[in-house]
Amino acid sequence: MSDQLKRQAAEAALEEVTPGMRLGIGTGSTAEQFVRALAEKVQGGLSVIGVPTSERTAALCRELGVPLATLEECPELDLTVDGADELDPKLRLIKGGGGALLREKIVATASRRMIVIADASKKVARLGAFALPVEVVPFGLRVTRNAVARALSNLGYDAPILLRGGDTPFVTDGGHHILDIDLREITDPEALSRSLLDIPGVVDHGLFLGIADAAYLAGADGVERLLPVADQQN
Ligand code: 5RP
Repeated sequence: MSDQLKRQAAEAALEEVTPGMRLGIGTGSTAEQFVRALAEKVQGGLSVIGVPTSERTAALCRELGVPLATLEECPELDLTVDGADELDPKLRLIKGGGGALLREKIVATASRRMIVIADASKKVARLGAFALPVEVVPFGLRVTRNAVARALSNLGYDAPILLRGGDTPFVTDGGHHILDIDLREITDPEALSRSLLDIPGVVDHGLFLGIADAAYLAGADGVERLLPVADQQN
């Protein structure tokens, strides 16, 4: 997606930001456009406080003058705006392509509302073409990976599990590693979520279920606002 389309999705979400809001601020290239657009409003006098979902986002906010707080200082947020790697008609998401899924989920669930900003290509009928990131603690990595493989097999998946970064594993802001699982098609995201969270070495995974309230998707024909299908009136 071009930066211009990302910016359009970001600007649509920015319309929902009102003075005094406590904002969760996402991570990734689309969220970066949101930070840039937000910073312009802040320079123009908009008063908000942001809680960043990654060190990367925090650094950009500081550079652009967006006021920040920690989640400890500001544990209840009005709105989180973040990108996604995939979203389905119920606005269930796969996130974590940028490795910030744990903080993103903690911040999003501390918010009254979460809005996704993305390009239209991220909308899918079924989640899973994007490899699902699963955040795991480094201790006992091999044991955890085997347990993940068993859980997947029990659910009928035959899916490759890759350690992100390979021989130089990627390290998240929380000091964990990420397993990327190429499931191709996730038949029951809720069942998969439960099975993965049952494994002791799994910290969290990139399935965001029942968290997003709306999405702004930018495409060639403009920006479309989506609600979860169950919320639609007709
Ligand atoms: C980071 C994420 C991002 O929101 C997701 O990867 C989308 O990123 P981008 O806007 O660059 O496509 O979940 O952990």
